[in-house]
Amino acid sequence: MTRGLAVEAIDLVKRFGDVVAVDGVSFSIPEGSVLGLLGPNGAGKTTMVRMLTTLSLPTSGTGRVAGHDVVTEPDAVRRSMGLTGQVATVDELLTGRENIRLIGRLYGLPKGYLREASDRLLEQFSLTEAADRMAKTYSGGMRRRLDLAVSLVAAPPVLFLDEPTTGLDPRSRAELWEVLQRLVAEGTTLLLTTQYLEEADHLADRIVVMDKGKVIASGTPTELKAQAGRASVVVTVSYAEDLDKATDLLRSSSPEVYVDRTSRRLTAQASGLSDMTNIAVIFAESEIAVDDLGLQRPSLDDVFLHLTGHRAETETSEPGQRQPEEVLR
Ligand SMILES: Nc1ncnc2c1ncn2[C@@H]1O[C@H](COP(=O)(O)OP(=O)(O)OP(=O)(O)O)[C@@H](O)[C@H]1O
Ligand SMILES: [Mg+2]
Repeated sequence: MTRGLAVEAIDLVKRFGDVVAVDGVSFSIPEGSVLGLLGPNGAGKTTMVRMLTTLSLPTSGTGRVAGHDVVTEPDAVRRSMGLTGQVATVDELLTGRENIRLIGRLYGLPKGYLREASDRLLEQFSLTEAADRMAKTYSGGMRRRLDLAVSLVAAPPVLFLDEPTTGLDPRSRAELWEVLQRLVAEGTTLLLTTQYLEEADHLADRIVVMDKGKVIASGTPTELKAQAGRASVVVTVSYAEDLDKATDLLRSSSPEVYVDRTSRRLTAQASGLSDMTNIAVIFAESEIAVDDLGLQRPSLDDVFLHLTGHRAETETSEPGQRQPEEVLR
């Protein structure tokens, strides 16, 4: 294996009949780092995870986990990884504690260790109080957390998480992020798929964006955002009657100004902090009262739009962004 790489995908392809679910995808994950695999529905994320975790044979290409080949050494691969799939796999009729111990016993972990580990994991995932209730009584978020706890019982060095926070409320999501960050700080390597750009931004060292089976972009969150174009300065004026005057002022320093009258917000293209400072000075010297003024960098959502021509969750949400009321040039 290449030293220091926990996961390698080299030109992986997966066909289902005529459907090419994954069409020549390559990436690698250095030990102890987090890769976010981002993409809309049907991009091929789950198929990638299934190939790398030995659940699905690649049509062609090579996958390695902890240096072991997913096709020729599947047992060694399985011993070095944990997986939380997109669909919860806990046993409904067992309690939370029993679910963890069952999997621990399958890994051949000693009883004493398992008792300690299950207590610790239940605590870590805020499941101590529900530990001795059947999993069928758990909420969606609790099942998700139990699923993760189970995948961690054997303390695998490489963890695959397929959309770990889909369906969780914001608080549970934030809690899960904290747990994951702790694991990574302790040396775990993480591959996480997500449709939430914010999640990849928050957790991942590097992001690979897939669409229709192919990698369409990769880089650090900052690099990807830089690709999506320039920053802008956003000014919110206090009174609607100042909007026209404020627009004229902004046009003196920026060729393109967007006005949203409902929110009293003006957006001007900017190249960076110095533009924002200039604009702040211009407004301070004017008589226009301003509620807010700041630099807005492109979000990963903008990156996605830029790369794919559609937003990440277009199928379910309104098409595109609300258009600004008018565009002045
Ligand atoms: N067993 C299968 N048989 C046939 N086609 C499949 C199979 N599994 C996946 N596909 C197809 O492969 C493509 C990629 O699917 P995949 O589940 O990997 O996408 P995904 O990125 O995980 O999407 P989602 O965000 O919805 O989970 C889709 O077009 C899907 O219909
Ligand atoms: Mg999927």
